[in-house]
Amino acid sequence: MIIGLRNKIRINYALLGKIMTIEEYILAHIEPEPELLRQLNRQTHQKIINPRMLSGHLQGRILKMLTQMCQARTILELGTFTGYSALCFAEGLPDDGVLHTVEENDELEDFARDFFHRSEYGHKIVQHIGKALDVIQTLDCEFDLVFLDADKREYTDYYRAVFDKLKAGGYLLADNTLWDGKVLHTPDPRDAQTIALQAFNNLVATDPRVETVILPLRDGLTVIRKK
Ligand SMILES: C[S@@+](CC[C@H](N)C(=O)[O-])C[C@H]1O[C@@H](n2cnc3c(N)ncnc32)[C@H](O)[C@@H]1O
Repeated sequence: MIIGLRNKIRINYALLGKIMTIEEYILAHIEPEPELLRQLNRQTHQKIINPRMLSGHLQGRILKMLTQMCQARTILELGTFTGYSALCFAEGLPDDGVLHTVEENDELEDFARDFFHRSEYGHKIVQHIGKALDVIQTLDCEFDLVFLDADKREYTDYYRAVFDKLKAGGYLLADNTLWDGKVLHTPDPRDAQTIALQAFNNLVATDPRVETVILPLRDGLTVIRKK
């Protein structure tokens, strides 16, 4: 995993004359993090608990590029947090595209909305406050792309709830599906998140209606294509 390599592999990047980690090397050779996202990243780390939940520079650029690659026009995100990934999806959408993003924690609403208002892509974002499974029922539209990043214990429920709203040929992304490698082992019976992620991974691997790959990016990003 890239995150696992971060602290283990150090390379001598001779042109810069200094030692870099693989992750630093990657970040130095991809599209830079936009200034507003850099500020959002920093303020999340200063003001919000569990800031590591935010997607960050590399994953954010990947989410934007995947949006462009599949030419998505309508996206559903479950788990807004402070809005980092939402702004990356919005950046990849065409100007008349729409991202619906859902967050249950209303204490994050103003923080994320402030950044959406400051962004040139903010007009594409529709913010929903509520439980993901409740909000999904209220959305009367079809999606080209769905991103699961809310409660890991509910991934299987999210998958079932959104499946009919995902267009044929559309994509579903699920974050954290390797769960720090814990999915490899028999979990403690009290570890509901690992148990649920194993069930989700088994479900999508055996569902004949989809094609599935897992990218070993950060904590695991599953890419699912609906046939
Ligand atoms: C990992 S964070 C999302 C990070 C964000 N997508 C990003 O990349 O910057 C997960 C978020 O899901 C929210 N969440 C958890 N359970 C939820 C639920 N049942 N419905 C909606 N949001 C939920 C949490 O409050 C948290 O803000």
